[in-house]
Amino acid sequence: MAKVVFRSTGKVIEDEKEIKKFLDKYGVLYEKWGVERLPEHLKTNYDLTEEEQKAIIDAYKEELERLKREKGYVAEDIVVLSEKTPNLEKLLDMFKKEHHHIDDEVRFVVDGSGIFPIKINGEIVDVYVEAGDLIVVPAGARHWFELDENRKIKCIRVFKSPAGWEAIYDENETASMPLK
Ligand SMILES: [Fe+2]
Repeated sequence: MAKVVFRSTGKVIEDEKEIKKFLDKYGVLYEKWGVERLPEHLKTNYDLTEEEQKAIIDAYKEELERLKREKGYVAEDIVVLSEKTPNLEKLLDMFKKEHHHIDDEVRFVVDGSGIFPIKINGEIVDVYVEAGDLIVVPAGARHWFELDENRKIKCIRVFKSPAGWEAIYDENETASMPLK
C-alpha cells in the first residue's frame, strides 16, 4: 500500500484518500489505477519485448490519454530498474541526489516499489509507491528517488520532451519552484 511518511515527525498517512488529499494540496498528483487488468507475465517480466511494452501501455490507454490531454504530455515509455539493470548502483547513486526537473516527473508503477522523497514546505516527505500507483512530481519540486528492499520497479513514464527529464541538482538553477 502506498504511504506518506514525514521524516521530521514520523507521522504516517496510509489512507488512499488522505494521501491524495495531502499531496494534491502541494501540487503532487496521486492516483490509483491498479494492476488487476494486467496478465501476470506483463507484471513479473522485467525483460520486456517491444510488443509487451506496448501491451502494458495499451492497457492504460484511457488513463494515459486523459493525463496527456489534461497536462500536455505527448509520449510515454516503459522504464525498469532491477538487479539485471546494467550499472544499477551507479544509476541509484544519481537518482538519490536531490534535484528537480523543468518538466513534471510522471510515473505509473506497473510492478515493484520505490520511494520518492519530496521537499514539501521545507520538510522531507517520503512518498512510498507500489504497483498500481500513479505519481506526478511537479516541475520544480525538489525530490529524489530510492528503491526499497524489493530492489526493483517497473514504470510507465509520461513526458513532454526528453530534455525535461534532465536532473537539475542546484536548487537555484532555472525553474526551481519549491512547494509551498
Ligand atoms: Fe527526478
